Amino acid sequence: MVTAADSVATPARSEAAHRTTLAGWILRAVVSAHVVAIVGQPVFAGVYLSGDYDSLGWHAAGANAVTSIGYLQVIAAIIVWIRLRQVWPFVTTLGVVAAETVQYFAGLAGALWLHIPLGVMTIVALVVQFIDVWRRPLQRRPHPSQERVPTAEQPERKEADDA
Ligand code: HEM
Repeated sequence: MVTAADSVATPARSEAAHRTTLAGWILRAVVSAHVVAIVGQPVFAGVYLSGDYDSLGWHAAGANAVTSIGYLQVIAAIIVWIRLRQVWPFVTTLGVVAAETVQYFAGLAGALWLHIPLGVMTIVALVVQFIDVWRRPLQRRPHPSQERVPTAEQPERKEADDA
């Protein structure tokens, strides 16, 4: 039976369900800064390869910024994991940060056969992650003991309700 109280409570409940928490906003901010920093890297590299050798200094500074923000993102993702019980941002961040670390040393070693394709893949991965963190509501997942587990009795109860 639907009561007047139910119809008033439902919109507020669904609004709360889509509300992103502070930990979620922090992760979104760090991922956004990370994307902005990494997008500059191929630009500086391209300018350097066109003959402006000073741009390698900008690319090196960008590399330090990108990897530092990456490590901050690991911390933000751990906070999201602990506070919101959502592990996927941590797992995906770990992949991106591992790729960036390899990328950094490949750049220093001048191993362009690895550095350029890995750089492109890392940028694509980070842009996908950016879309993901902004698309999903980052809210606290209920404790496993509070999640509804379907039981064998439920279909019977529904049939009884229908009758
Ligand atoms: C598509 C993206 C990227 C391209 C096309 C690119 C390209 C390059 C090129 C052409 C060099 C010069 C290598 C040489 O002269 O031997 C270089 C160096 C370097 N890159 Fe990248 N790169 C990219 C992304 C990144 C990223 C994301 C990082 C950091 C995680 C990074 C870190 C470095 C470092 C540390 C160096 C060495 C700088 C130095 O010698 O002072 N690169 N990169």
